[in-house]
Amino acid sequence: MRKPVIAGNWKMYKTVGESVATALALKPLVANANHWEVVIAPVFTALKSVADRLEGSNIKLAAQNCAAEKTEGAFTGEVAASMVRDAGCSHVIVGHSERRQYFFESDQIVSRKTQAGLAAGLMVIVCVGETLEQRDQGSAESVVRNQLAGGLSGLTASDLDRIIVAYEPVWAIGTGRTATPEQAQEMHAFIRRVFAERLSAAADAIRVLYGGSVKPDNIAGLMKQPDIDGALVGGASLKAESFAEIVNYKK
Ligand code: PGA
Repeated sequence: MRKPVIAGNWKMYKTVGESVATALALKPLVANANHWEVVIAPVFTALKSVADRLEGSNIKLAAQNCAAEKTEGAFTGEVAASMVRDAGCSHVIVGHSERRQYFFESDQIVSRKTQAGLAAGLMVIVCVGETLEQRDQGSAESVVRNQLAGGLSGLTASDLDRIIVAYEPVWAIGTGRTATPEQAQEMHAFIRRVFAERLSAAADAIRVLYGGSVKPDNIAGLMKQPDIDGALVGGASLKAESFAEIVNYKK
């Protein structure tokens, strides 16, 4: 049984005060949602304050990024995975398409960040997904296959229980245009097949989330698909009420 994951990616929104207020508002609204692993990902500066307020709750904390280097050092502006863990996170998101697009993160960087997250004892949410142009050219599957091969190189079957894949078609992020449940299912099944080719049995256990304009009114259709194990939610996770509405959906 794959426990579904619902993760809220707050991107570069909210001050420390706003982050704490949203987390506190969310806590009672999702207190009974034990059918999901519930995760929120505030900005770095708010992680510790939010972690302190979430202690004892069923909401887990993720960073939106971490350094590729495994240990501390002279890397101005970077935050190590071990530091993210120290601030109270259990999860880290790596390879989000905004990081790939605006900060030129390659599959190789994503792979190093994945390894750094694992070494720090974090659950790593690795994002993959094609652009509209790539989909229109018919290369969506090969793009995703290459991202998986590059970003997850060197992993063994025993690492997989700490890896979560998020399939986020770039054309669906923040655009209001969701992949249809069937389009998403097709790619999720493909992602599982790619894992099966490399790591056989472990592929059944890996959780694959969908991301891209997930909202309270489309979560049900997505979650009905056999290979969709949850969602990475951007815009609709910024308000406690709308995120809770998604979280409180039951299969
Ligand atoms: P969105 O963002 O839900 O606003 O489309 C998803 C994401 O970027 O993780």
